[in-house]
Amino acid sequence: MKLYLAPMEGVTDFIMRDLLTQSGDIDKCFTEFLRVTNRLHPHSVFYKNCPELKMGSRTRTGTPVILQLLGGQAEPLAENAARAAELGALGIDLNFGCPAKTVNRHDGGAVLLQYPQRLYDIVKNVRKAVPAMIPVSAKIRLGFQDTTLAIENTQALSEAGASAVTVHCRTKIQGYRPPAHWEWIPKLSETLSIPVIANGDIASLNDFNKCREMTHSQHFMIGRGAISNPLLFRQIRNSIINQTPSPEPSAWLHTKAMLPAFFNACALSINIHFAAARTKQWLRVLAPTNPEAKEIFDRLKSLKGREFQASMEGLSQEFSARSSQPYE
Ligand SMILES: Cc1cc2nc3c(=O)[nH]c(=O)nc-3n(C[C@H](O)[C@H](O)[C@H](O)COP(=O)(O)O)c2cc1C
Repeated sequence: MKLYLAPMEGVTDFIMRDLLTQSGDIDKCFTEFLRVTNRLHPHSVFYKNCPELKMGSRTRTGTPVILQLLGGQAEPLAENAARAAELGALGIDLNFGCPAKTVNRHDGGAVLLQYPQRLYDIVKNVRKAVPAMIPVSAKIRLGFQDTTLAIENTQALSEAGASAVTVHCRTKIQGYRPPAHWEWIPKLSETLSIPVIANGDIASLNDFNKCREMTHSQHFMIGRGAISNPLLFRQIRNSIINQTPSPEPSAWLHTKAMLPAFFNACALSINIHFAAARTKQWLRVLAPTNPEAKEIFDRLKSLKGREFQASMEGLSQEFSARSSQPYE
């Protein structure tokens, strides 16, 4: 069984990828989408999207990072994919699922799900442009308006040479409204010989178990659930793979301990203002399910730069003081 961290623009940047893959429980992660219009990006754009290219396209703990491209034109996508491969990308993923209006208006993301032939042409061209050992995969939704083309789309991707397809089990117009329609995964899988990666609404071990039961898939991608509970991958592995759950810290305490490290990494990479904004963003995601995260968020939300940094130092000291104590 394989577990993947979903690409999430503005969330799973290289700092978050680095932090989340440190536990060794994630098999593969993806960059945020890199938009391709009609030109070849310079090297610097690829390195910004995927700094891991300079480290063999892996996070510091060795987790492979797949570079995701988004666009509607086969030729520039192929050219950019070839450049990514030259720079050391371990795989190319093509985004056909983004529902954002600006992206769709510019002929990118989920809008392409209305045209199976275009999906085919894009994957075929990209496949041809990169060396055979570099997998080209695709990430889709069940459709744009409805699911009528779901099977045709996945078949087009497979026939064009996609190595795997991730399915976020909703249409574009369903946005992020629950539930995710996992029942589509076996329907799609049975017509394909490539792996179908189940995605959407796996936010707990319970969700994962239900999704696994319904999909019979061996491949799962988790996005928002990984941010609200970075221990989720470990919990899944312990429960399913090792079958001998080991004693674990509570999910919230584990995450709380990661916050100062995340802040410091963001501050080192960019600056303390960026670091404060990103850490607040994370706390905001954590707040609904963790009362203490809400309390910390409310306390810190108006702090900026150095003041915010001082609070993070306080949090960090709290942890070093209690590091010799067992987790609650
Ligand atoms: C803030 C945000 C940004 C996202 N950015 C991307 C992206 O860059 N590329 C992509 O393929 N999907 C993107 N997605 C979709 C996720 O990868 C995933 O398919 C979706 O969130 C459903 O999975 P989840 O319920 O596990 O979060 C994004 C989702 C969110 C919430």
